[in-house]
Amino acid sequence: MRPTAVVAPSILSADFADFASGLKTIEEAGADWVHVDVMDGHFVPNLTFGPPVIQALRARTQLPFDTHLMIANPDAYIEAYAKAGCTRLTVHAEACPHLHRTVQAIREAGMQAGVALNPHTPLSQVQHIVADLDTLLVMTVNPGFGGQKFMTAMVDKVADARALLDDHSSAAHLEVDGGVNLATGQACRDAGATAFVAGNAFFNHDGARTDFVKRLRG
Ligand code: DX5
Ligand code: ZN
Repeated sequence: MRPTAVVAPSILSADFADFASGLKTIEEAGADWVHVDVMDGHFVPNLTFGPPVIQALRARTQLPFDTHLMIANPDAYIEAYAKAGCTRLTVHAEACPHLHRTVQAIREAGMQAGVALNPHTPLSQVQHIVADLDTLLVMTVNPGFGGQKFMTAMVDKVADARALLDDHSSAAHLEVDGGVNLATGQACRDAGATAFVAGNAFFNHDGARTDFVKRLRG
């Protein structure tokens, strides 16, 4: 039931004045998805970009866009992110009073639906809608910034999330995001994660990034 492992470098850690070369770096490394971090300065204390920038990036790569919405009221923007060319769209449970409706709307818009949980948010938030998820994203830092330290306490949460998905025979990706490097990525992989977001560890990697991607994929 587990999907093949994927690596999704985060464009958040690329040069904001030169996203095209950031995308090229991600492609040349042989990564699977581009992780696109959307922040609104409200749900999280940082601001990035929205649909027009994503649409411009869409023309530069064939890789799927794994878009992580860290915004309030995501329901109002689902259509805009579909039109911008997002492949997968992940919303935060904390931002959605009618989470199941939001997940359905993402799928109806033609994207794969994901739900992200902040570190303090229990898995029980998604317990009853697991069957409708394409991605369950366990945040391994508090969202808002790249380059933060991985929260080791989240490894147990990843293991619990794996058990929850397996209990429902779910083929959804179990994604981890925040402070993921080769060591913390392996701990998450051992706990059952299948999708690995890496920002700083990817862009600042000293050796060949193709090796980084292969090793993170496991
Ligand atoms: C954090 C973002 C992450 C971030 C990861 O709020 O959701 O995707 O870009 O960056 P690193 O890997 O540097 O923690
Ligand atoms: Zn993210």
